[in-house]
Amino acid sequence: MHLTEDILKQNPNLCEYMAPSFDIRQDIVVTEVPKLGKSAAEKAIKEWGQPKSNITHLIFCTTSGVDMPSADYRLTKLLGLRSSIKRFMIYQQGCFAGATALRLAKDLAENNAAARILIVCSEITAVTFRGPSETHLDCLVEQALFSDGAAAVIVGSDPVEGVERPLFQLITAAQTLLPDSEGAVDGFFREYGLIVHLLKDVPGLISENIEKSLKEAFDPLGISDWNSIFWIAHPGGPAILDKVEEKLGLKPEKLQGTRKVLSEYGNMSSACVLFILDEMRQRSIEEGRSTTGEGLDWGVLYGFGPGLTVETVVLHSVAIN
Ligand SMILES: CC(C)(COP(=O)(O)OP(=O)(O)OC[C@H]1O[C@@H](n2cnc3c(N)ncnc32)[C@H](O)[C@@H]1OP(=O)(O)O)[C@@H](O)C(=O)NCCC(=O)NCCS
Repeated sequence: MHLTEDILKQNPNLCEYMAPSFDIRQDIVVTEVPKLGKSAAEKAIKEWGQPKSNITHLIFCTTSGVDMPSADYRLTKLLGLRSSIKRFMIYQQGCFAGATALRLAKDLAENNAAARILIVCSEITAVTFRGPSETHLDCLVEQALFSDGAAAVIVGSDPVEGVERPLFQLITAAQTLLPDSEGAVDGFFREYGLIVHLLKDVPGLISENIEKSLKEAFDPLGISDWNSIFWIAHPGGPAILDKVEEKLGLKPEKLQGTRKVLSEYGNMSSACVLFILDEMRQRSIEEGRSTTGEGLDWGVLYGFGPGLTVETVVLHSVAIN
């Protein structure tokens, strides 16, 4: 989206597999990541319907463009948020970070009365785009799957009745490292930009370990039928979804929203899970369901990425009147 033919012609190193190109990539993303985040944030604030001066905290999440002051500062300025806003910057966490941001927002909302936390996830692949390498096919796989995108959501507790309209409740949130998964998804930021390596076994590692995380999250609720909950799974790639579906015996419609977002927008890293949340609540309304979670009460938001690190968020839907 941000790399035009003109830019590529003027900067041929961007089209090599490993040629010095950090500065041009950095110049693009340092400016464009907060701008893209701004457009997502404005939509979220508009739908929320409250003055932006009511936002008390900002969590900004991206895998590109580290500078000082950082992207959260730039977004604060672009949006005209209050200067006393409390900011948190989540850099370089990769695909699981959308769920990390929700986990952090949950803690902030529960511990700060009247907090209203704006989460913005903004990802631009200008840092990873590069020419092919015959010896590193995973680089092509990564480029075929990954894409640009931004999403935003506002999190808080004790919604003001008649004024604010909650969409989902965050019930619990957990992070864990998968055993024997070191190096399965790696990223190296060097003078040639960010090179991501994906082992072929990522679908196997995720699918073999997912049930343990689900059990830890849902045992306290007495839930063990994974078809009885609604699903917001980070897409990763089609092979991951196929393996998870097979391993858990999920009905095809369970990952419908996830597959739709992957096919229409690609893997937008941290922003994906927020896109799928949006897709779920919109579709629930269109299909006349009783709750924002396809008529079901409980759901899971599942994120994974470098480490391998996994985030498991238990959600409760909200009744649609
Ligand atoms: C990439 C992908 C979409 C291709 O799916 P597909 O078209 O059904 O084809 P396959 O899975 O059979 O893979 C096609 C070829 O790519 C190769 N390939 C797949 N993943 C690879 C990887 N990470 N590194 C190197 N080669 C890879 C396969 O070995 C196969 O090569 P072969 O034909 O010589 O055996 C699918 O493998 C996928 O979703 N992978 C997971 C991607 C991932 O790890 N995402 C995590 C991001 S957080």
